[in-house]
Amino acid sequence: MGDTMEPRFLRACRGEPVDVTPVWFMRQAGRYLPEYRALRERHGFLEMATTPELAAEVTLQPVRRLGVDAAILFADILLPLPPMGAPLRFADGEGPVIDRPVRTRADVERLRVPDPGELSYVGEAIRLVRRELPPEVALIGFAGAPFTLASYLIEGGHSKSFELTKQLMWNEPDAFRLLLGKLADTCAAYLKMQVAAGAQAVQLFDSWVGCLSPADYAASVLPHSARVLAGLAVPTIHFGVGTATVLPLMARAGGDVIGVDWRLPLPEARKLLPPGKPLQGNLDPVALLASPEAALAAAKRVLEEGRGGPHVFNVGHGILPPTPPDLVKRVVDLVHEAKR
Ligand code: CP3
Repeated sequence: MGDTMEPRFLRACRGEPVDVTPVWFMRQAGRYLPEYRALRERHGFLEMATTPELAAEVTLQPVRRLGVDAAILFADILLPLPPMGAPLRFADGEGPVIDRPVRTRADVERLRVPDPGELSYVGEAIRLVRRELPPEVALIGFAGAPFTLASYLIEGGHSKSFELTKQLMWNEPDAFRLLLGKLADTCAAYLKMQVAAGAQAVQLFDSWVGCLSPADYAASVLPHSARVLAGLAVPTIHFGVGTATVLPLMARAGGDVIGVDWRLPLPEARKLLPPGKPLQGNLDPVALLASPEAALAAAKRVLEEGRGGPHVFNVGHGILPPTPPDLVKRVVDLVHEAKR
């Protein structure tokens, strides 16, 4: 007896049969939506992410407009950093800024592992969203993975070559291990709090882990991500960008679903992973800036390449601000109209 109200997104995450391929988009809430920009004119980004009513409203905007199979909580991977002792601000056009970056062992020792109650506004937003979501749409919570969060803490913001991060990893392996351990403890408790509040799946964003060699990933990162992903009571998605060479190790660290970007075709990803492993991805977000014909052809190819096993349709990285919302809606319809 199948539970017909069980969201197809959750069934696909568990590798169970689905009627059609489920679809959602990373950064589906955000600046490409006029209804987001309208709210954003009146509120700062951090204010929106930390006010439960505003975060819940922005989470629901793409669900109403697009008809996706999952909502992702409107928040940011960097929200746990201020309670750890690293104040954060978002400078216009500059992205996230951490004014007192973590560069030495003493800096690492000063960081604390906060009680998840200090992020209770996130749990409150989750409860508000669950009350409004139709039962066939699942709510995804998320956290940044220890390595990606460490890169922001160490570099003080976004980075291209991760010079300071790798220097700390190689020059002071004990301090680096202590840092990733504190981040893993923080994220594990934070995700458990999100699940207790009603998140039905969680995604771990290790966005920048593709900058590491497999040997460095295995030695310095894998055990910490494994600790975050273990012991969660809901399906987990493990995602990174440019991860072709570390994909088997990421799967070993954990994740019921592995998220891949557009550089690696889904059939190639399947060859690197255990048989039947659910995949999420991997339309190039830039394809959504091309002509509708080219974008829809690219989406159709991803859908067909996903047919070799359980698949959640998504972009390979977040939706970009110039993306036309109507085209995103047409991709959702294309995915939902194709028979599995
Ligand atoms: O996907 C979603 O719709 C849920 C919300 C979400 C945001 N950030 C909202 C956001 C999620 C899941 C994230 C994750 C996140 N944040 C990641 C991992 C995913 C990835 O992109 O690899 C990272 C690295 C961050 C850190 C961060 N936050 C960056 C680099 C930026 C961009 C700064 C900029 O100006 O472009 C942000 C800000 C941010 N996070 C915005 C949104 C909607 C834009 C804020 C605005 O309105 O100005």
